[in-house]
Amino acid sequence: MDQLIRGYIHTFYSDSRIMFSLSVLLLTLVLLNSRLLISAETVVTCDGFVQYLSCGTGVISVQSATYGRTSGQICSVGRPQSQISNTWCSINVPMIFKRCNGLRTCGLNTQGLSTPDPCFGTYKYYTTNYICITAETSVTCHGGYGYLKCKHGKIQINTANYGRTDKTTCSQGRPSQQLQNTNCFSPNALDFVSKSCNGLEICEVYATHMIFTDPCFGTYKYLAISYFCLPHRIHSRIVCEHETSALTCEHGTVIHIQSANYGRTDSSTCSNGRPPAQLSKTDCYTLNSQTVVASRCEGKSSCSILASNSVFSDPCFGTFKYLNISYSCVSK
Ligand SMILES: *[C@@H]1O[C@H](CO)[C@@H](O)[C@H](O)[C@H]1NC(C)=O
Repeated sequence: MDQLIRGYIHTFYSDSRIMFSLSVLLLTLVLLNSRLLISAETVVTCDGFVQYLSCGTGVISVQSATYGRTSGQICSVGRPQSQISNTWCSINVPMIFKRCNGLRTCGLNTQGLSTPDPCFGTYKYYTTNYICITAETSVTCHGGYGYLKCKHGKIQINTANYGRTDKTTCSQGRPSQQLQNTNCFSPNALDFVSKSCNGLEICEVYATHMIFTDPCFGTYKYLAISYFCLPHRIHSRIVCEHETSALTCEHGTVIHIQSANYGRTDSSTCSNGRPPAQLSKTDCYTLNSQTVVASRCEGKSSCSILASNSVFSDPCFGTFKYLNISYSCVSK
């Protein structure tokens, strides 16, 4: 985007004064139209422009990413009515999670980023919500075991060193000659720790010269690691009564059920062609839904479950129900 704007400025600067004032107007339109920074963490980018996410300190964790149109105003300047009148169009864009999670900055050319097209003929935009995660740290003195933990997420190693960079860490009871070298870095620690821990929820590390090349013989060393806990992405699946819900997790990960309900909590979901009487009850819950779903799916790489009274019992007779499952994929 920055480059694009610079491009515009450049083009117009090289023209006459009149063109320049026109360019300011156009530039404003471009700014308004292409990258609206709604809050520090929600970025809206009109189709065809570059979406730029960044974190000052820490790394990006995308919370949601959608493509479509749900507002008549956003990315509407200069567009014919026919391209902006449909405001019921939105699909998820998993690619943005894949490309940006764990990075400090992420620039995405939105051209052709999302396929398929959720509403042909409508001019669309990308809405991405993200947070910036800060690093956790772990220090393990030589000879000890350290544990890296992410309660609700997966480890991504940021830095790792086996050596010594100050005189105080792991200094208790040590003769001072073992603490003098504070410029001691192991060449293979980052690579080794990243390979053993990235993607896991818990990781054990052993601080020893048997694993890490000894970078400073005679100095008492420690293993210092900083890492991020990237939250698991929450997948949601909704199927209408009588349909089958299929859950899947990618290579090496398994299903962890976050929540599930067979019933109805709003009047619009699964309402197509249904009489109002079957939709009006919106406080319909099957209390053991999560247990039923978990008993069939928890810990598996894929599973399917039928949304029906025969599986869940009938929590609200006469209401047309749906099965709503939220789950994440965790390492085994
Ligand atoms: C599905 O469940 C999630 C998590 O409880 C909830 O936030 C969402 O509103 C539900 N969706 C529908 C359509 O009921």
